[in-house]
Amino acid sequence: MSAAAADAVAGRLRAEPETVLLLPTGVTPLGMYRRLVEMHAGGELSFAGATFFNLDEYLGLTPDHPSSYHVYMRDNFYCLVDVDTGRVHVPDGNAPDPAAECKRYEGMMAEAGGVDLCVLGIGRNGHIGFNEPGAPFDSRTRIVKLAETTRLVNAGDFEGARAPERAISVGMRTIFESREILLLASGANKADAVAAAAGEEVSEAVPASMLQAHPHATFMVDGDAASAVGDIP
Ligand code: PGA
Repeated sequence: MSAAAADAVAGRLRAEPETVLLLPTGVTPLGMYRRLVEMHAGGELSFAGATFFNLDEYLGLTPDHPSSYHVYMRDNFYCLVDVDTGRVHVPDGNAPDPAAECKRYEGMMAEAGGVDLCVLGIGRNGHIGFNEPGAPFDSRTRIVKLAETTRLVNAGDFEGARAPERAISVGMRTIFESREILLLASGANKADAVAAAAGEEVSEAVPASMLQAHPHATFMVDGDAASAVGDIP
């Protein structure tokens, strides 16, 4: 899965070095980032012309907070390749006016010409970015409340095992407007979410199901994550 995802990103960058990417955090994409770093180290791939956006950031965390997605992206990817730091964007979770920050971030994506390739993980509850079940399909970058289940899954990333209650997340509509979308999932704990997302019903109750209506969305999943597809009508 990680190799296929890295190949897809690399292929897009080689065809169009000025690609605009919208990228995820979490455990799932770590292998993809590792492979992209290896391709760069081997002299096979440059990121210098690309523009990067991240899907989300916890509200209230400074960019240097060890559990922030700023630090995750810096340590796992941006610091290890040749990105132009002026073209790397992560929502500022510590902005004095978070609503204005959401607007600014959405505006930057539009100014960049929209997203060419969006890579997503999927939550056990079917979330994409931090768009939890019930997120309107027409939503834009905004402040969201995290599902309690999401906070529990992510609690281990935080001192005191308490994840923030809110985040800034790129919205469903903005994700959908990406020209191409890859959703990555691995492991049996994603099987129900993948099955619901790929099932017959497209519903805001399962955010990832929105991708069924997208002309260029691909689910890249391993055998365990695909194991319940077909079980859920
Ligand atoms: P994970 O998170 O890759 O850490 O499982 C995915 C997600 O919640 O979107």
